[in-house]
Amino acid sequence: MFQNIVFQTPTIIFGIDAIKQLGEQAKKLGAGRALLISGPRVQKAGLLDKAASFLKAEGIAVEVNIQDRDTPEPATEVVEDTASVARKGKFDVIIGLGGGSILDVSKMAAALVTNPGTTKDYFGKEKVPKRGTPTIIVPTTAGTGAEVTKHAIFLDREINVKKVVASSNLLPNIAIVDPVLTVSCPPAVTASSGIDAFIHSAEAFLSKNANAMTDALALESISTITQWLGPAFADGQDMEARYQMSLGSLMAGVVLNNSGTSLVHAMAYPVGGEHHTPHGVTLSALLIACFEYVAVAKAEKMAALAVAMGENIDGLAPREVVERVLDAIHYLIKSVDLPASLTDLGISKEKTNIHQWAVEAHKEQRLLTRSPRVLSVEDIELIYRNAFE
Ligand SMILES: [Fe+2]
Repeated sequence: MFQNIVFQTPTIIFGIDAIKQLGEQAKKLGAGRALLISGPRVQKAGLLDKAASFLKAEGIAVEVNIQDRDTPEPATEVVEDTASVARKGKFDVIIGLGGGSILDVSKMAAALVTNPGTTKDYFGKEKVPKRGTPTIIVPTTAGTGAEVTKHAIFLDREINVKKVVASSNLLPNIAIVDPVLTVSCPPAVTASSGIDAFIHSAEAFLSKNANAMTDALALESISTITQWLGPAFADGQDMEARYQMSLGSLMAGVVLNNSGTSLVHAMAYPVGGEHHTPHGVTLSALLIACFEYVAVAKAEKMAALAVAMGENIDGLAPREVVERVLDAIHYLIKSVDLPASLTDLGISKEKTNIHQWAVEAHKEQRLLTRSPRVLSVEDIELIYRNAFE
């Protein structure tokens, strides 16, 4: 079969102490003035001062913006506030330093400098007409992939649903990925962001949008994350584990940007919107039920997934291969204290309007058209029910 491939990525600078290049890279983007967006946890860990020092060393004027918020995912008002700071300050470069939410706010605020209106005007696919202020995106967790993607996710408080801006013009100019910055990340965040990265690769690998380039990166990152998520969770100071998780997550981010996620992410939006559970944790609770449902469409790829996860599948029937993959995923999830079902997540089946969730998830056609198995509202409802078991 012949494939047409479009492959997009920012300039990627990866490695131990890569952060030291921040000033030099900002200078290359023409920075005299930089807006550095970050959060309280990052500031407390001393990473903000560290980043600012590399900018100042190049003679760049730095204004710091600290994001304090009350939901795990940023609401659109947060972006509007940050965008107004970005618009007034006439910055040459905007730097996001933090977890996925801070990075998403940074990307969107930069876009709103050159594009009129508010975040809500740009929900959906390719709605941002112009590139914004140049961005350098620096993650302090390993998982979201936000440093290399064109996506940003925000809570629309009016309808209590998380929505996505997916526009090529949101793609960062430069991603600086330094594993050292993830050392201060607490175990629970290490686990939830790590499983998010695993799902970016695994979901994209099974999707209709997969191609030879993303498959290669997906398998490599699945293998890396399966091996190193546990050690990074068990001991945050384990530098080898942090290095491997940062690399695995970066590769998964590139996969996400070029092949995209599907069912698990679509089904997580209504759950996360209603219960405000962190992104990776919500995905974790839905993963096994989703993969169990779509496996029938992708026998060969399930076998490749098993091998990438280190399973021996010699002599196994396809049915047994699927069981092996689901068992391996269950072990991975449980070993880092994540929920393997919606019940594990603490959600009551009786108090949930499962049909309404399915209706909401089914609206995410941007994601669902990539699913290897065609899904009706009723199918999604069934998967939610299975995810409670
Ligand atoms: Fe994700």
